[in-house]
Amino acid sequence: GAASIDVFPSAPIGRVSPYVFSGFLEHLGRCIYGGILPAGPTNFPHTPRRPCPPDQFTPTPPALLTPEGFRRDVLEVLRDELAVPMVRWPGGNYVSSYNWKDGVGPKEARKRRPELAWGGEESNQFGTDEFIAWCRLAKIEPYIIVNMGTGTLEDALNWIEYCNGTGDTYWANLRREHTGRDEPHNVKYWGLGNEVWGEWQIGQETAEAYAAKARQWAHAIKLLDPTVKLIGCGETGLSHWDGLVLEGLVDKVDGHSIHLYTGFGARDRSQVEKEFGRTVYGPDAAEYSIEICKALINKARFSKKVAKPITIAFDEYGVWDETVGTPQNGLEQFYTLADALAMASWLNVFVRQADIVEIACIAQSVNVISPLITSPTGLFRQTIYWPLYLFSRYMRGGTAVQVSVASPKYAGETLPAWISDIKGHPSVLDASATVHTTEGGAHSIRIAVVNRSETESFQVPLRIAFQGANFEDGEVEVHELWHADVNAQNGWGKENEVAIESSRARWGGEWTFKAHSFTLLVLD
Ligand code: AHR
Repeated sequence: GAASIDVFPSAPIGRVSPYVFSGFLEHLGRCIYGGILPAGPTNFPHTPRRPCPPDQFTPTPPALLTPEGFRRDVLEVLRDELAVPMVRWPGGNYVSSYNWKDGVGPKEARKRRPELAWGGEESNQFGTDEFIAWCRLAKIEPYIIVNMGTGTLEDALNWIEYCNGTGDTYWANLRREHTGRDEPHNVKYWGLGNEVWGEWQIGQETAEAYAAKARQWAHAIKLLDPTVKLIGCGETGLSHWDGLVLEGLVDKVDGHSIHLYTGFGARDRSQVEKEFGRTVYGPDAAEYSIEICKALINKARFSKKVAKPITIAFDEYGVWDETVGTPQNGLEQFYTLADALAMASWLNVFVRQADIVEIACIAQSVNVISPLITSPTGLFRQTIYWPLYLFSRYMRGGTAVQVSVASPKYAGETLPAWISDIKGHPSVLDASATVHTTEGGAHSIRIAVVNRSETESFQVPLRIAFQGANFEDGEVEVHELWHADVNAQNGWGKENEVAIESSRARWGGEWTFKAHSFTLLVLD
């Protein structure tokens, strides 16, 4: 079929928030213990459902650790390659029975606790001060979720005073004693609970009960520290819960969270056609969620006369097949090229929705349904790492602009199936674009295109309607993620099986996008 893409640099959507390249660290599997800290006999495995006999335990050599004891390799990839701007912590479901007071002070005296969300025991060797120390080293803004399950408002207030207090008060002074410095942790972003709507959540509530409680908490928290940004707990963005919680909270918060995962990888060869489609078209559901959520936010702002903008924190997203990444294996999922194409579509969604999405946190940053997998002595980058890397590197700081795509439609099954009933069948080509202006006033355009056809390549005219700059001929910088096999994976011993190829090519206003590929074009 024929396809074309029109980019309209004079029709800006909004600036791409740097926080859409954020991450998430939860005390789950080998995320913290094994990913951020080396695993040790007392903290590995985090869950006894995956026992590791101490005599089989390989220690991480001290040379691979920072002086503070953190894994240097993970920290360097997150800081120097992905430039992750913000990280959400400590959960996730974990937070709903987390007592932050167990995780501060001398490490030998910290309480080991049963861990209720994922099973096993929590050593509390990584707590608030370690998280902040790690964030500082990694140049990352912390985003902390408070416990609205077993935790009280008083616990939350104490936590915020401990982190941000500058006065001569008990919890601020305790922080000074623990860290040996006067400087506060200065945690600006706080989330009001995790998935409080979910039946798996400790302290599940109805939307009405949550909204009433979160309102009281938000009121008290802003009395303690008016400078913090509060994120209310949303669901999928478009549910009954989202509507009610926004109505009840919109004047008390700064953002509303959404969680969504797409999955269903192409692992069963007999299901490849169906599964490939469900995998790569899955993120279209996220765009629908965001569009409806934006309308719900504005509806609530209208009825409550709230002038200030309320943004979306898509603070858990990613590709997760719950039959593959399970609690038994610490949610360790090995990703295919098809999953990477889905990841690129996820990021296209966040760029296209730049006017409302302020934060997006990939779930999760290491080992747990993650682009990075570690061993005691090294790491490899999964297929889904590469779209994140390219978007973070080339779309950050730009202004998202309107793109019009004419392409064949996908007629197969999508998940959820009703998305295509409402929105129409998805386009095989999925694109977003940003414009960047240098200090000298020169323009650069970046165009991200996912070809979600498994079999067909497209030769696509790319028209850029720009006054005052010529993008008709010259050279283009090309970054392409492709493999002959949509099920190809990276792994130990085949770390670069699926990786990007970067080149410069002649540019004549069109490009051929290979079947099942992701391409990012940079035009200067
Ligand atoms: O990221 C894994 C889990 O998914 C989180 O703990 C929870 O918030 C979500 O259900």
